[in-house]
Amino acid sequence: MEKKQLYIQTFGCQMNVQDSEKMAALLQDSGYEATDDPKRADLILVNTCSIREKAAQKIYSQLGRFRALKEQNPHLLIGVGGCLAQQQGNRLFRRAPYLDLVFGTHQIHRLPELIEAREQTGGRIAETGFYERVCSLDIPALPPAGTISTFVTIMQGCNNFCAYCVVPHVRGREESRPLPEIVREVENLAARGIRQVTLLGQNVNSYGKTLGDGPDFADLVHALGKVAGIERIRFTTSHPKDLSTKLIDCFGKVASLCEHIHLPVQAGSDRVLKRMNRGYTAETYREKVAALHRACPGISVTSDVIVGFPGEEEDDFQATLALMREIRFDNLFSFQYSEREGTAAVGMDGTVCDSVKCERLRILQDLQEEHTLAKNRACVGRVERVLVEGPSKNGREDMTGRTRGNRIVNFPGERELVGKTVSVLITEAFLHSLRGEMEEKEREDVH
Ligand code: SAH
Ligand code: SF4
Ligand code: F3S
Repeated sequence: MEKKQLYIQTFGCQMNVQDSEKMAALLQDSGYEATDDPKRADLILVNTCSIREKAAQKIYSQLGRFRALKEQNPHLLIGVGGCLAQQQGNRLFRRAPYLDLVFGTHQIHRLPELIEAREQTGGRIAETGFYERVCSLDIPALPPAGTISTFVTIMQGCNNFCAYCVVPHVRGREESRPLPEIVREVENLAARGIRQVTLLGQNVNSYGKTLGDGPDFADLVHALGKVAGIERIRFTTSHPKDLSTKLIDCFGKVASLCEHIHLPVQAGSDRVLKRMNRGYTAETYREKVAALHRACPGISVTSDVIVGFPGEEEDDFQATLALMREIRFDNLFSFQYSEREGTAAVGMDGTVCDSVKCERLRILQDLQEEHTLAKNRACVGRVERVLVEGPSKNGREDMTGRTRGNRIVNFPGERELVGKTVSVLITEAFLHSLRGEMEEKEREDVH
């Protein structure tokens, strides 16, 4: 029988990318195969994000475009999953009555059954209940053959309830996967030629808390450090309050653990950090970064910052800039605060107006550009070990890969290098990447 065509569009974070791969894997057994052309699809799934209002708006306009396809093909089914679906539930039908299915973040494993029910009964379905265990957590997201680097979800959900954040509300409580299962999955990935894994979770540092007295995140890193063939391990995201000395010590001890940490600080003012419910002060943050540098000199530290959280005054904002000047992040993702339904920050006093938020973001991003560029320029003249991921998109005959510190490096080279780690002399630095030349000795080794 001819296979039905499935088109999945993914918004949001890497967690969602993994979930979409799981959806595709699940639906294969129901006779669907993936297509990259929505016009040919029998089923369109939109995996959504609701972290900021802008993300939600983008999704609503995309749904509008899919509606047109449904008008041309009345048999087309459209389902919406992910965090916005979880948050909105059947309210999505009011906005988009042409949708067939709304499924929450804990419902992924039920997709085949829900689609069948829609086909048989013809009634629209919205399922957004939470389960104690997220059943889809254990479905491996198998990367396509030839993939060098991939992600492994080690935990779901979040218990932190930062005052601005919708994630605990839409992903549910924290839950860790058992260590042996993760090790087995990573061993399988290594056998399929994967060289780098990034361990994924909203707060990987609290890995293991739901497993009783079992292993913690540092134990997991040590265990994965022993998997043959996995040359590089990364993880994201870490919460500063849970960054233990034991984990800091993994840097430098576990050879495959890359010298990079994404450690979102969110703000440099203690008053704002407290209102955000982050559970640390700017001083503790500084101390943890100092400890990281002691354990691993030269470690790259990247971060996230929110500007315009309710009650953020000019001096609070200056405290964030001061912290940035002191730490000099290798890279920083920055956002204007966006109010999210159901979070503790709704209704807090001290709303910051859009123009101030916009101005603060610009000042902050200008400062970060200076730091990023200076840090990248400092790499010029150094020889970096680069794991080659594939051809570069920079329009030249370049290959692209990353340093252990997570900088993108483009250099002239051949496709045979994909999956290999080579030494590259850095010759030029830009804002988003470095350029270089493969060491002469290496060339001889490869050929
Ligand atoms: N779990 C991670 C990241 C969560 S979302 C962590 O704890 O760090 C990624 C980033 O989006 C956050 O670090 C934060 O900077 C930003 N963010 C989350 N909610 C936001 C909101 N309501 N408005 C603006 N930015 C937000
Ligand atoms: Fe959101 Fe805070 Fe949890 Fe990160 S730690 S997902 S910012 S609540
Ligand atoms: Fe967005 Fe949900 Fe990820 S809100 S950032 S897709 S966890």
